[in-house]
Amino acid sequence: TQYWTASSTAERGEADLKEAAAALAAGGVVAFPTETVYGLGGDARSTEAVGKIFAAKGRPSDNPLIVHIADEADVESLCERVGEIERTLMRIFWPGPLTLVLPVRPGAVSPLVTAGLDTVAVRLPEHRLARDLIAAAGCPLAAPSANRSGRPSPTEARHVQEDLDGRIDGVLDGGAAGVGLESTVVRVLDGIVHVLRPGGVTAEHLQAAIGDLAEVRQSHGTEETNPVVAADDSAADSGISARELAEERLLPELRQAAEPPRSPGVKYAHYAPRGEMLLVTGDPERMVAEAQRAADEARRQGRRVGVLACAEHEARYRAEHVLRIGSRAEPATAARALYAALRQCDELGLDYIVAEGFPEAGIGAALMNRLRKAAGGREHRV
Ligand code: TXA
Ligand code: MG
Repeated sequence: TQYWTASSTAERGEADLKEAAAALAAGGVVAFPTETVYGLGGDARSTEAVGKIFAAKGRPSDNPLIVHIADEADVESLCERVGEIERTLMRIFWPGPLTLVLPVRPGAVSPLVTAGLDTVAVRLPEHRLARDLIAAAGCPLAAPSANRSGRPSPTEARHVQEDLDGRIDGVLDGGAAGVGLESTVVRVLDGIVHVLRPGGVTAEHLQAAIGDLAEVRQSHGTEETNPVVAADDSAADSGISARELAEERLLPELRQAAEPPRSPGVKYAHYAPRGEMLLVTGDPERMVAEAQRAADEARRQGRRVGVLACAEHEARYRAEHVLRIGSRAEPATAARALYAALRQCDELGLDYIVAEGFPEAGIGAALMNRLRKAAGGREHRV
């Protein structure tokens, strides 16, 4: 695996970018920074290249990938029947952390990218290096997050190396990702903007921008919006395929059985650290007390315990490991720090992690969505 840094000197950066682009143009797979998380890119038109992405990640082949473009006009070659609402969203939020699910133009990308669906997820990233790389490679890049399946998404180049060194052609290092959580995935159907995955662009942003044109609904995936409902890797990494999940939702008799959440950590395994995580939410004072109680109890059971706390509460905990994930007053700082903290939990060999909840407004919604997944549904509301 080659390591390129785009930031040392302008000249070196240029040369590195060219080499990385050449590797992509030759059918290789290269990790690169975006404003959300690092992606693992490959030519979206090449089944061979896309196959390498799935293989490197250990991702089941029926979970579709996001296609990254460098220019809004590139949508036309990938998609058809792009509606007024989608156009408005692109105009307002691109470049940026918003992914749109649109009808795919037949033959535009490898069928591996769409997992055989008739839609394709498209995104125009804001990160300059990402766009320069896509433009230099001269092809749309299929790019899931550059982690091994089941690991937190990488927000730094060294996270990519931890997971994928030796399995991919290269990593382009552009420093830490800004948002720290994956893009918002939406699908517009019958005049409603369904949020399949909350992310960097918040529901509030979407509604404010779209005004009366459409209603924004937190769907997190339903059978009406898309059979591949998960819109994240949870299905892929739990060992249940997206298709199985979809069928489960589509078959009424199975749907009933699926209604109560099944064994926690099955559907929501994706962002999980190796240790067991408990999420504590509610009134801040009671939350701190309950988190401390849970940490103490686990400690008494001889477990290796850590607490994921906000900056405001960090100093109040008595525990062997207290990891800070940003400020409650600024949830964007917590979003940026979360995945690195989850990786640190693994490095410390923690087997029990108590995480504080955050206010759910704005990016807080995406943050809490990822924390809930990491906790595999274990949540104490106090
Ligand atoms: O911020 C991001 O979106 C990052 C960076 C690298 O751009 N990428 C990313 O990709 O998070 P990935 O593959 O880890 O997550 C994309 C999710 C997939 O889990 C998939 O379920 C959903 O988007 N998706 C892709 N194509 C879809 C489609 N046609 N319909 C519904 N969901 C789709
Ligand atoms: Mg992912």
